[in-house]
Amino acid sequence: MSKGEKCSCGDDEKGLLERLEEIIVSFKNKPGALIPVLQATQSLFGYVPQEAILKISEMLNEPLHKVHGVITFYSFFSLKPRGKYLIRVCLGTACYVQGANEILTALKQQLSIEIGETTTDKLFTLDVGRCFGACGLAPIIMVNDDVHQFVKPSGVKKILGAYKKHKAVNQEEET
Ligand code: FES
Repeated sequence: MSKGEKCSCGDDEKGLLERLEEIIVSFKNKPGALIPVLQATQSLFGYVPQEAILKISEMLNEPLHKVHGVITFYSFFSLKPRGKYLIRVCLGTACYVQGANEILTALKQQLSIEIGETTTDKLFTLDVGRCFGACGLAPIIMVNDDVHQFVKPSGVKKILGAYKKHKAVNQEEET
């Protein structure tokens, strides 16, 4: 999000940064404040923008490299805006041998994006992970918190279609 641009919730970036400051103040001097503050930042902005990183570093008195290190270590955090739906393909061993790579290829083709990218309509972001703890259901993909089990490359279009439809219904209800 560039400076002055409105985010999807209607708050501008300045307003969000002010809210972030309040959150940081509420965590200040508490041990282990960095991760909960970053979680709040991710929820607030949908990602962790550079301005927020600078503010967190300054106000929590944590070195910039440490803040960056935590963000890049945990897949929950993102340095780039994500789509409405985060698709994560499990590339753990059980899923891999059941064809996870072919599912990933099908998703890339259907969405016309690569890993880490977001579709131009901001609907989907594509990512990968290692074992989501449901190997008996392999291969699996997750779309936000939804688990899709025994996925086949030929079934990818239908899964994506359900989320596109869901968005369309929500938009109709809002108008
Ligand atoms: S390897 Fe995919 S859930 Fe375990």
